[in-house]
Amino acid sequence: MKIQLLVAATTAASVSARPQYHTNNPHEWMARGPNDFRGPCPMLNTLSNHGFLPRDGRNITKANAVTGLKDGLNFNGSLSELMWEQGIIANPMPNATFFTLEQLNVHGVLEHDASLTRTDAFLGNNHVFNETVYNQSRQWWTGEIVTAEQLAHSKIFRQLESRAQNPNYTFSASIEEFSLGEIAAPIIVFGDMSTGTAQRDLMEYFFINERLPEELGWSKKSNEITLMDILSTTAIVRNATSLLTGPPAPESPHRRRDLHAGLVAGLQRAL
Ligand code: HEM
Repeated sequence: MKIQLLVAATTAASVSARPQYHTNNPHEWMARGPNDFRGPCPMLNTLSNHGFLPRDGRNITKANAVTGLKDGLNFNGSLSELMWEQGIIANPMPNATFFTLEQLNVHGVLEHDASLTRTDAFLGNNHVFNETVYNQSRQWWTGEIVTAEQLAHSKIFRQLESRAQNPNYTFSASIEEFSLGEIAAPIIVFGDMSTGTAQRDLMEYFFINERLPEELGWSKKSNEITLMDILSTTAIVRNATSLLTGPPAPESPHRRRDLHAGLVAGLQRAL
């Protein structure tokens, strides 16, 4: 199925524009320039496309991440700090104070197999939006309101595809934790965290255009998004990914958690 909808109407007009010449809005969406870095995270790319993060995709310092996630998405500062701290391992320099979006592309550090919108590193480009892969994911989002279970279906399907086609398929427990957070993300930003649902048109617009869906009426949440929000939404998604029926097995105290979902360590520190 071809992606027809949602390609931003203004794309052609604004691709070559640079803010200093064409607009007073510092957060107007603009496509990346030829020397700008982008990576596998559709949201960090989006925030760079809007100038909430550096437009060139470089110098993602902790301060830049905190400001960008606050201004772009209304994320709480300590939550953003925690996310940045888990992302900084992408920069191999000792005691690095920044990472670039391109550094996130390295397979096996944070980037992993079975993404919703990118193909596996073994099979091709692991960091650019891939329409075939995306269509495999979106086929499960059957209603205008996408449930946590439908998001889980898309992830499980991608894992199945990936395992069947990629002889190097890798999906460790820590990648699973990272992925649960990625599935929770559309609910957190484009949906309703109390019901664990996401609005399909907003989510699709975002994935396809790497742009905040303001022209569809979206605005950032008025309540600051906190670590507790992430944890509760991730819990909904975790339950939805289980293929078991009946109550879940007891949690292991040794379970690892990572970036998007793995904020438990931070929570424990904070409490
Ligand atoms: C410092 C903050 C962040 C870092 C370092 C980061 C890093 C990453 C990386 C490395 C990936 C690629 C994983 C893969 O191979 O699929 C990824 C994917 C993703 N991220 Fe982020 N991210 C951050 C913040 C966010 C935020 C704030 C959101 C939205 C609320 C978000 C949403 C997503 C989603 C939905 C994916 C999955 C894409 C897919 O499966 O194709 N990320 N992120």
